[in-house]
Amino acid sequence: MNIETTDGLTLADRLAANTGRFTDKTFDWNAFPSNSGFDELARAQMRYIGAGGSPKVGDTSTLKPDNFTLSLIYKEPGRYAACHSHEIEESFLIIDGALIVGWERDGEVVEVNLGPRDMILNAREIGHGFRVDGVEPVMMSISVDVGKPLPPVYHYHPKEHPSELARSFGAEPGKTLAFDRRGAHPLQKLMSDYVVRHHELPTIRDAAGLTRKVYVGDAPGAIAHDTCRKEMWGLPAGAALAPFTRSAEDAVLCLEGAVEVVWVDANGDEAVVELGPRDLVKTPAGQAHYLRNPGAGAATLWTVIGTAGDDGAVYAKG
Ligand SMILES: [Fe+2]
Repeated sequence: MNIETTDGLTLADRLAANTGRFTDKTFDWNAFPSNSGFDELARAQMRYIGAGGSPKVGDTSTLKPDNFTLSLIYKEPGRYAACHSHEIEESFLIIDGALIVGWERDGEVVEVNLGPRDMILNAREIGHGFRVDGVEPVMMSISVDVGKPLPPVYHYHPKEHPSELARSFGAEPGKTLAFDRRGAHPLQKLMSDYVVRHHELPTIRDAAGLTRKVYVGDAPGAIAHDTCRKEMWGLPAGAALAPFTRSAEDAVLCLEGAVEVVWVDANGDEAVVELGPRDLVKTPAGQAHYLRNPGAGAATLWTVIGTAGDDGAVYAKG
């Protein structure tokens, strides 16, 4: 669906066409062909924007990506993703559960345990895998930049390596190091630059009581990056922002509470959609929009913005 050609569509039509509703979608257990036949690798994907690393790029129920994709991934305890690398960057934002992510180089692996609202950005060409060791399934949001969607290169896939080696991302016994921000190993140092802990990030208080934790962008504690920005927003009950416009697209994925995404046209007419948990709106570049919270409690929103630079948006009280 091309929202740039708006002939015959109302503002409300266009907003509806850019809304991804959790209950309208299904999890796809066959999104990744390389997992086929390996129950230990099973994972399900719910696509919101683009295919996100799956070859299912023709899925018409997903929104067309501009600068990034966004999907949910569900993985159950005991399962893992085999160590692989690719030319695109991807981020994992944990929503529920605890996820072990391993980075491998020359047979050595550094593993980090990520909890809810922690994030890792997997750097280009770094061998990485993940595993659920905890007692509850993991739900996470994956965003991939759309630069070069080449298939992943597997380093330690169970079809070519013993299952135990694949499960440890290629580390023989004794070759796994724990994530440590003060660790001396070069891989520990590298990974430290790409792991964001929610509790370590400062909270920025903007106009209208909007709170922001900047995961990827130009802010203290954030990962500096050249494609997209990623932020966790908090919007108190009853708060509203003034309309703003960006030079790139953004996506708002509601994690908690409720939020209304309001689009405004050149005449000042508005269209509104309310989001609950796991609902998303993608707003294209140049579309004036704002957020307000109609709920009884604060809303928590995962916000992805399709440029690393200044997009011209100003957040003010509405
Ligand atoms: Fe990956």
